[in-house]
Amino acid sequence: MIIAANFKTNHTRKSTAKYIEALNLFLDAHGDIKSEIVIFPTATSLQNIKLHKDVSMGAQNFYPTYNGSITGEIGYEQLSEFNIKHVLIGHSERRLLLNETQDFVAKKYEFAKDKNIGIIYCIGEPKEVREQGFEFVMNYLWSQFDGIDLNNINLTVAYEPVWAIGTGVSATIEDIENVLNALREKLMGAPILYGGSVNSDNVSKIISLKNCDGVLVGSASLDVASFCELIKHVENT
Ligand code: PGA
Repeated sequence: MIIAANFKTNHTRKSTAKYIEALNLFLDAHGDIKSEIVIFPTATSLQNIKLHKDVSMGAQNFYPTYNGSITGEIGYEQLSEFNIKHVLIGHSERRLLLNETQDFVAKKYEFAKDKNIGIIYCIGEPKEVREQGFEFVMNYLWSQFDGIDLNNINLTVAYEPVWAIGTGVSATIEDIENVLNALREKLMGAPILYGGSVNSDNVSKIISLKNCDGVLVGSASLDVASFCELIKHVENT
């Protein structure tokens, strides 16, 4: 199972370091774990800090360039200073709040693909689309794959319904199952994660779904003790 923690705009450099130290201690005490854990801190908190062997660090964002004149952005040269193993692309907050178009998202994807870096590619429908029914949901989700090479071996897909993100209301198990099953038909070998109000109470049911390969966790990852609790549930499922 993949357990990814998306800190979004939370934690400082110092609190991220403390978090990772606590996570390392928890994992050391726990012995061998089956899960692969990925932490996505803020860009300012990326740092070369000792990570437990089952933990890697990812970047929440980057601009698809090596370096150059894009004021305020971070290119690949800067990311390479850290041991970045993954990037998040297509998160709904960037699509909706920062107006990242499908075209731009696809450019970022191509760039990261060329760099052979792990990509967690996010898709998810808004509430209005969900209310129209499953067929509309799937059409919407497939449109979010425009320009995305599904044969990339570094691709992991995260299905995150927009209405379930940060709301405390996860999608129902049945809704998640139907979407993951439909995605699996086209996605072949790419791991598929679910994200959207995942917590220690609902994670076991979610990861028990046949086509679920892990979770992308926002709010419930911010406190290291809660995140460790969630890892325990995954390990014991
Ligand atoms: P959430 O966020 O767990 O707070 O819903 C998930 C995400 O946006 O990746």
